[in-house]
Amino acid sequence: NKCVFPVAGYGTRFLPATKSMPKEMLPIVNKPLVQYGVEEAIEAGMTTCAMVTGRGKRSITDHFDISYELEHQISGTSKEIHLDSIRGVLDKAVFTMVRQREMKGLGHAILTGESLIGNEPFGVLLSDDLCLHDGVGVLSQMAELYRQFRCSIVAIQEVPQDETHKYGVIAGESLKEGIYRVDEMVEKPDPADAPSNLAIIGRYILTPDIFDILRETEPGANGEIQLTDALQTQARQGCVMAYKFKGKRFDCGSVPGFVEATNFVYENYYGKE
Ligand code: G1P
Repeated sequence: NKCVFPVAGYGTRFLPATKSMPKEMLPIVNKPLVQYGVEEAIEAGMTTCAMVTGRGKRSITDHFDISYELEHQISGTSKEIHLDSIRGVLDKAVFTMVRQREMKGLGHAILTGESLIGNEPFGVLLSDDLCLHDGVGVLSQMAELYRQFRCSIVAIQEVPQDETHKYGVIAGESLKEGIYRVDEMVEKPDPADAPSNLAIIGRYILTPDIFDILRETEPGANGEIQLTDALQTQARQGCVMAYKFKGKRFDCGSVPGFVEATNFVYENYYGKE
């Protein structure tokens, strides 16, 4: 029912745009990146959105609240239609927030979200990775798989071998088309050391034992507490699945990916909702 959104990162690749604006609020056409993520989580039934925020991220909190002035100004006018999508989100979901005070990595962000989650399986969505699919969204596909396996699940995609250093990379036994039981995962390996070219994309379903494991996980790549390292501990216990999702993914944490997503959404979705 719950999904963690780590949204505390700096977004340095988009400076100066992200100097005073969170990177998660950058719009793909007319909708902020984080709203695409929230809509995907809601579709998967994860209607409590747990935001792990940081300093300078207030506009995210404000985005998922009523703007009284705006509502008042445009209520009953022809412009009201432009508020439909965000109103729909606010009707369906609850937003909880906690601040990550220090940037110590994705694993640390997830651990910071523990108080918002408790002892239940939960989703994690990195809004930099925009995933679009005309049928069922990626988190929904993964929730369905969770019901089958009751293990942590990571979304994966094949990437060119020379890009493994940007991702967590997995290796495992193929159980059936597109589903692997993971036995090895490495965070950002050099191409020469990568166990495969199957890269983790920013969608996870995690079982809550991950919190205790994260507490014991030493800093890894970049000196940060890595979720991938904690998942490796679960994988050794035989309970991490990797799933080649159906859909198209854009790396909106990079300028080329962001532009590609913008063009794709404009051509395929804008004005057609
Ligand atoms: C994070 C994870 C990495 C994963 C990636 C997906 O890295 O640590 O394992 O492959 O997200 O986007 P980041 O992109 O935050 O450096």
